[in-house]
Amino acid sequence: MNVLLTGGAGYIGSHVLRAVLAAGHNCVVYDSLIKGHAEAVETTGAELVLGDIADTRKLLQVIGDNKIDTVINFAAFIEAGESMDKPEKYFRNNTVKTLELLETMRAGGVKRIVFSSTAAVYGTPELTPIAETAPLAPINPYGSSKLCVEYMLQAYAAAYGLGGVALRYFNVAGAHPAGDIGEAHSPETHLVPLVLQVPLGQRDDIKIFGDDYDTPDGTCIRDYIHVCDLADAHVLAAGAIEPGEIKVYNLGNGEGFSVKEVIETCRKVTGHAIPAEITPRRPGDPPRLVASSAKAIEQLGWRPEYPELETIVSHAWAWHESHPNGYND
Ligand code: UFG
Repeated sequence: MNVLLTGGAGYIGSHVLRAVLAAGHNCVVYDSLIKGHAEAVETTGAELVLGDIADTRKLLQVIGDNKIDTVINFAAFIEAGESMDKPEKYFRNNTVKTLELLETMRAGGVKRIVFSSTAAVYGTPELTPIAETAPLAPINPYGSSKLCVEYMLQAYAAAYGLGGVALRYFNVAGAHPAGDIGEAHSPETHLVPLVLQVPLGQRDDIKIFGDDYDTPDGTCIRDYIHVCDLADAHVLAAGAIEPGEIKVYNLGNGEGFSVKEVIETCRKVTGHAIPAEITPRRPGDPPRLVASSAKAIEQLGWRPEYPELETIVSHAWAWHESHPNGYND
């Protein structure tokens, strides 16, 4: 395959880049570097093209020059909390610009896409673990912006024969075991890296956003998946694309951990006391999100290599300890 990775210099994209190259495919990274890091691409030898996914001319040129046949799209904003305050930012970037991308793909004759969707499309699900057939009812604009794209993909499949896979990620964490790439968001909003900032000496404590949820210890429950396992699923998904069809898969480990349990695991891995303080709930947070990934396991042959939360946190810790300032070290 000749793959174009849009947003390939970001956290998940850079791990997928390595998985795609390891599987023997050609890969070009296209990234605005608004959130991504050139360093996350450089060591692979893959070409990095600087650009916006809505820059049709530039993208068409890259598609033509590299005979791209498959797009894997990560170019998106990802903060559910922020999307509550700035919905336009999410719909413009995640939805409208992805429509532009689909149009450019059509103009360039590219008929295959793997799309990063999210567990946020389910909103506050009534049943867990969540299957792909669960009702789609996002409770924040981030989830809505991604669900709109899933609907667009289906319409393009019906009208133009687009083939694709939408992968609904649960909570992605960890870092490459090689230790040279990992999570480096600015500002950081995700639980695992924020907790690890305490033993790094970068924050005094971790705030727990609400302990009055209807869960055993009152804090929110999430399903954490290792970024490398997630990356592997993209390679399998690309291989499963069929014309005129959009397949959908959840990606998680099927086990939920509360915010308090995540902090406890970080204490164990780092040997640091990690003080925590309870603060009010963060708007837009569903109490419990746990995946059923049975469909990905059955249909894609996906086998997570690092399903244990402790391993996920250990790999994240190895990355942060050796790169306390992300790629600026
Ligand atoms: N949390 C805290 N304190 C913090 C940060 C987070 O208590 O300082 C809590 C959150 O309230 C939430 C849990 O930790 O209950 C996980 O929060 P994250 O921000 O790490 O992750 P989210 O579950 O909000 O979001 C993640 C991805 C989204 C994706 C979503 C799917 O970041 O892109 O999962 O629901 F949409």
